[in-house]
Amino acid sequence: MDPRGLVILVAILLAEIGCLVNGGFVFPVERRKRSLSAIKAHDARRRGRILSVVDLNLGGNGLPTETGLYFTKLGLGSPPKDYYVQVDTGSDILWVNCVECSRCPKKSDLGIDLILYDPRGSDTSELVSCDQDFCFATYDGPIPGCKSEIPCPYSITYGDGSATSGYYVQDYLTYNRVNGNLRTVPQNSSIVFGCGNVQSGTLGSSSEEALDGIIGFGQANSSVLSQLAASGKVKRVFSHCLDNIRGGGIFAIGEVVEPKVSTTPLVPKMAHYNVVLKNIEVDTDILQLPSDIFDSGNGKGTVIDSGTTLAYLPGIVYEQLIPKVMARQPGLKLYLVEQQFSCFQYAGNVDHGFPVVKLHFEDSLSLTVYPHDYLFKFKYGIWCIGWQKSVAQTKNGKDMTLLGDLVLSNKLVVYDLENMVIGWTDYNCSSSIKVKDEATGIVHTVGAHNISSASTLFIRRILTFFLLLTAIVNN
Ligand SMILES: *[C@@H]1O[C@H](CO)[C@@H](O)[C@H](O)[C@H]1NC(C)=O
Ligand SMILES: *[C@@H]1O[C@H](CO)[C@@H](O)[C@H](O)[C@H]1NC(C)=O
Ligand SMILES: *[C@@H]1O[C@H](CO)[C@@H](O)[C@H](O)[C@H]1NC(C)=O
Ligand SMILES: *[C@@H]1O[C@H](CO)[C@@H](O)[C@H](O)[C@H]1NC(C)=O
Repeated sequence: MDPRGLVILVAILLAEIGCLVNGGFVFPVERRKRSLSAIKAHDARRRGRILSVVDLNLGGNGLPTETGLYFTKLGLGSPPKDYYVQVDTGSDILWVNCVECSRCPKKSDLGIDLILYDPRGSDTSELVSCDQDFCFATYDGPIPGCKSEIPCPYSITYGDGSATSGYYVQDYLTYNRVNGNLRTVPQNSSIVFGCGNVQSGTLGSSSEEALDGIIGFGQANSSVLSQLAASGKVKRVFSHCLDNIRGGGIFAIGEVVEPKVSTTPLVPKMAHYNVVLKNIEVDTDILQLPSDIFDSGNGKGTVIDSGTTLAYLPGIVYEQLIPKVMARQPGLKLYLVEQQFSCFQYAGNVDHGFPVVKLHFEDSLSLTVYPHDYLFKFKYGIWCIGWQKSVAQTKNGKDMTLLGDLVLSNKLVVYDLENMVIGWTDYNCSSSIKVKDEATGIVHTVGAHNISSASTLFIRRILTFFLLLTAIVNN
């Protein structure tokens, strides 16, 4: 990040701390005593890591005509209370709506109850002050003007312009540790997460698909995954199988032994999960594109993001792809629905009438996107194209390529940060996978879940939850 950017960021942060103080909801920060559990955790680290498998229950559906997102349920605090958060591989922290929040959603049509996290309602909640290591590491140094009673602020702006800010707290996360085939026991770990009190954009409204927060599964040290790994609880390997046919799916932390997946390298030192897309094939035809269109240099590349509903391609790619996708159906007329989707009437089976699109990545990994994935049914006999023209640009002004649920659904996607690779394979997300428990060497079956969720047949807002400020991690 350039120094000017840093100054602006710090200025913003200080302004936010100002708000916090002026708002009158600063708690006296108790100097953190080393709790018994912290000592225990430290001892466990010294004895060696106890890497276990974690099973996250999923709900939701990535289709734009359904919820347009996937979420999971987590326990926070003690005694633990349930929070429903969007699962987002495009950002790096867990945050939940907090008690002081005035514009947080109170109701959701997803068939779940929303609650606000109350630090005073949990016996184990502690504020993270700006002079603590976590804060220091997050901001890459001290925040100017930091005093020990000032909370460590967080602030995130997502790709759709919505934003959340607040301050960090530390408390217990309760999750499901796998201890048998399709069997789990609750386990907990102390983690740092954001207590959100100012939400804007879509995050601030009681929209139909409102949730308690977002869990970022990014690779930064601040993510829950990295924190659990740092305390020796898990390996930095996770996978998801997002089921847009039945809803929900599989989400597990741990090394997958079945099915096997082929992989492609993750571009190092990026703020997101970036991979190198080489070319796109439609019906055995390779699109003729400028060689640097998906260039993976600094700030470029193709982002894999479960928090984004659709798939976004650079303008030049989109303009070539759409005619090729429609080539077998010259008689079809495209028209705009809801000012954003190209739709058409089609009565047949789309898998027979339209071509398969194959994305080819570095190391010969390909991603096959079937017509029933990239076309979605708007209503009876009316289909819309899920591919979109890129809306976001990278730092150097290039159109971003962003692959969301549209292309990731119905596949097992494995993120292996230990080896810095990502891979996938077509998979039935209503079935199960086999994951190895590193502590015992035993292989367990982890199955699909489907947290109940209501659905309607309107096109919802299209979500693009990826961290907007790519400059923070990526210097
Ligand atoms: C964490 O787990 C331990 C062992 O299962 C349990 O005794 C303790 O009450 C839990 N703590 C919280 C805060 O849930
Ligand atoms: C993340 O944590 C690891 C292990 O504690 C450390 O080596 C690394 O420097 C940290 N990275 C950043 C960017 O702070
Ligand atoms: C997917 O797996 C589920 C559960 O095992 C099974 O009921 C269903 O038939 C499978 N679907 C396909 C298309 O194989
Ligand atoms: C998952 O939940 C949705 C909404 O409650 C429901 O429509 C769907 O049939 C469920 N899928 C399975 C496999 O139970």
